[in-house]
Amino acid sequence: ALEFKLVIHKGFNLISGIHSPEVVDQIHNFEIRDSDVFVITYPKSGTVWLQQILRLIEVKGDVTATNDRLNSERIPWMELLESEKQFVSAPSPRIHVSHLPYRFMPLGLKQKKGKVIYVARNPKDVLVSYFHFHKFANMLETPKDFDTFFEKFLEGNVFGNCWFEHVKSWCCHSDEMNFLYITYEEMIKDLRPVVERIVSFLGMDLTPQQLNDVVEHSTFRNMKNNPQANYQQVPGLLLNHQLGAFLRKGTVGDWKNYFTVAHNERFDKVYQEKIKDIPLSFMWD
Ligand code: PPS
Repeated sequence: ALEFKLVIHKGFNLISGIHSPEVVDQIHNFEIRDSDVFVITYPKSGTVWLQQILRLIEVKGDVTATNDRLNSERIPWMELLESEKQFVSAPSPRIHVSHLPYRFMPLGLKQKKGKVIYVARNPKDVLVSYFHFHKFANMLETPKDFDTFFEKFLEGNVFGNCWFEHVKSWCCHSDEMNFLYITYEEMIKDLRPVVERIVSFLGMDLTPQQLNDVVEHSTFRNMKNNPQANYQQVPGLLLNHQLGAFLRKGTVGDWKNYFTVAHNERFDKVYQEKIKDIPLSFMWD
């Protein structure tokens, strides 16, 4: 049986058994094509949602055209690649998702090659979503309780490391790249304008009906019923589907059901301290 544990690689936690430090190190020098797209997220911020949206945009909203394979095969995680060959041999347009911090990413992005879509989510909701994910993801240690996980998250002692550092590392370099910044919260509020922004960022052209189709097939409910999109087919080796679901709740503000007043005060204090020099606007309260 595989044993998973967090191993620190150049200051970043990787999961042994699924991530290869050698391949992660090669990413830096991967040659970038103008048509490459990278969706960057801290874990639990909307990665699989973006996989579904980008997959649908590619086929102009025709969901039946996405049945041939899992979204995670069409749009793989960079850090799960097994070799550079896999990246190089993929036909254009290559689309990847990644939780890696900025410093590991292909240098070509800085020459404005390729495109980056960064998705941010209220870190309090990220924390709650990640807490649940740890309970059913076999590659992550099951937290003793919410308190223990709360501290681990604030310390950055999880895959993805510190939320604040992640956002900062990417967004402070946004000017160097072709960069689109979106939030989970604006997607929840009204998905269509966000999809329109993505489509125009990608230089694509979809009819109003095709846009409707993309939006319709990207709702939480429809993704929940779509095996390509809901990750119920990820092998039981990685996810224990009895203990949870990848598409868990899909709402804004679930943190209010978990944070005590003391948690919230502590979180806000760290938040104010860490976020003060980040030039970003967030929608959450
Ligand atoms: S991962 O493991 O990092 O790839 O997880 P990620 O996909 O980034 O985040 C999972 C959370 O995103 C929610 N999700 C959605 N919410 C609303 N609408 C749609 N369509 C949708 N798709 C995924 C998913 O439910 C997880 O959040 P929680 O709060 O746990 O429900």
